[in-house]
Amino acid sequence: MCGIVGYIGNRQATEVLIEGLSKLEYRGYDSAGCAVNSGDSLSVRKFKGRLSVLADDLKANPLSSNIGIGHTRWATHGAPSDVNSHPHLNMDSTIAVVHNGIIENYMQLKEWLISEGKVFKSETDTEVVAHLVDYYYEGDLLDAVYKAMAKLRGAYALGVISKDNPDELVAVRNESPLVIGIGEGENFIASDIPALLKYTRNVYFLENGEVVHLTKDSVKIFNQDREEVKREIYNVKWDIEAASKGGFDHFMIKEINEQPNGIKETLNRRLDENGDIKLDDIKLTKAELDNINKVYIVACGTAYYAGLVGKHAIEKFAKIPVETDIASEFRYRDAFVDENTLLIVVSQSGETADTLAALKEAKSKGARILAITNVVGSSVSREADDVFYTWAGPEIAVASTKAYTTQLVSLYMIALDFAIKKGTITKEQYKTMISKLGETSDKVQEIIDNSDDIEKIAEEIKDSKDAFYLGRGLDYCLAMEGALKLKEISYIHAEAFPAGELKHGPIALIEEGTPVISIATQDVLFEKMVSNMKEVKARGAYVIALAKEGNKEVEKAADRVIYIPEVDDVLSSILTVVPLQILSYHVATKRGCDVDKPRNLAKSVTVE
Ligand code: G6P
Repeated sequence: MCGIVGYIGNRQATEVLIEGLSKLEYRGYDSAGCAVNSGDSLSVRKFKGRLSVLADDLKANPLSSNIGIGHTRWATHGAPSDVNSHPHLNMDSTIAVVHNGIIENYMQLKEWLISEGKVFKSETDTEVVAHLVDYYYEGDLLDAVYKAMAKLRGAYALGVISKDNPDELVAVRNESPLVIGIGEGENFIASDIPALLKYTRNVYFLENGEVVHLTKDSVKIFNQDREEVKREIYNVKWDIEAASKGGFDHFMIKEINEQPNGIKETLNRRLDENGDIKLDDIKLTKAELDNINKVYIVACGTAYYAGLVGKHAIEKFAKIPVETDIASEFRYRDAFVDENTLLIVVSQSGETADTLAALKEAKSKGARILAITNVVGSSVSREADDVFYTWAGPEIAVASTKAYTTQLVSLYMIALDFAIKKGTITKEQYKTMISKLGETSDKVQEIIDNSDDIEKIAEEIKDSKDAFYLGRGLDYCLAMEGALKLKEISYIHAEAFPAGELKHGPIALIEEGTPVISIATQDVLFEKMVSNMKEVKARGAYVIALAKEGNKEVEKAADRVIYIPEVDDVLSSILTVVPLQILSYHVATKRGCDVDKPRNLAKSVTVE
């Protein structure tokens, strides 16, 4: 987590740093800081709190310089405070470092550096890097960074400047993301592309272990052996509008509204002239597919919940056993994986540390790796054998919405593609499902256009202490995603239960007025869900049902009903999630929460 930026050129560095950091706050926002070279010294400003604290300070007391580094933090080592904020410095304040990631061996390094006479100010792991670079520094910043790197273990993207090298910026990428922005007479580093878009669309992606030396007129990339490597420039296609709020109050509601388009893009880009699915990006042959006897879907957070739906789809259509697992569990549980295993990792950012580690673990055991990700060039996409890009466009709000729906579409497409190749569905079934998948985009639009009642329901439940979500089968997967959305942005305690488990404990939690969001979109399970709603209602629950249009029966068991358009049961998840997202959004805004930047969270969890 954390976001870093760096600039060298002719502009006022602090302006570029603040602009860049404002696009990276989704990565962490408990403190922010910057360091610039002011000629005779490095000037540093860093404060606990949002980026605005730093920006206001710089407005009141500007710093003039054409080179600098900046950081927005999500605390790992040491609480959010001015002193723990980045940049960190050596004792003479001649070397400044910003860091994203975790230095795993920082305790040993710290002890050693203290024995060498270094005095530490902060509790962070990052400060060791500043002292380490200083330890090796003999006038050549690149050389000192290389020597320091040899001692570091862990994940890190670094930006380093030195008072005595006013025309140089050195950056490193190792397991944490970093892109280089290429301008004319100016160059940039950043944790993510949106930070650069105001200035350039030309970027270099770095490989792990690479070090970059930037001046205002040159960018040199070196590998671990200090050999210069040539890299192709990647031209970012999406424009700055895609990474701004575009008239909406929050990124989250903007991204909810972008779902119809994301669904269309993800699907249509992979349909050939006959309307068949054409997965150019997946190179698995029919023979290879026939050898796959086990699929794992591994992910974290919302992506994990998408994976649960993916299990239903792949098992139903392609008839291959699927296990969906949380990446942080999978990586340590010695799961049975061999050459006949397909590991599907799902990750919006493509940078989630646990997902990446799970991928590597399975790869080392011979599994074939298929990545579903939203970020071109991300770590996950580079490690995988096959990559399926979701075309959601940049997702900025911490709570994931459009990434989830496009992940669902991707998983359905993969399931159908596998199924037709393996002959587990007929051509007719295949065609029908593709056409129904194509209709979901308009249906999602319909839900968004008619969501006023959802806002009214949000008003009714906004002061609740707890909320429960019930569902069966696919609807249980959606209940989990719905509960996650509510808790992460509104801070209401929200939990999901498989409705059949109610009587085995959860029903004891129901009190007068407790909202119970009951999802009943599956035809075969509908009656059972209605019974469960009646059971909780009889015990005082305030039942909010989610059902398909026409299923009026549900009104007898619920206090409020949200209808979704008619849809095939197996695809209902793409629709069902939308009212759940909208409900959470309104509850959170009515409670005055910062929906785009919920407390304690970050969008991209690049630490374990
Ligand atoms: C964080 C985010 C979630 C996201 C999860 C996995 O927890 O707040 O929105 O679902 O990470 O992220 P990924 O980028 O791997 O999908």
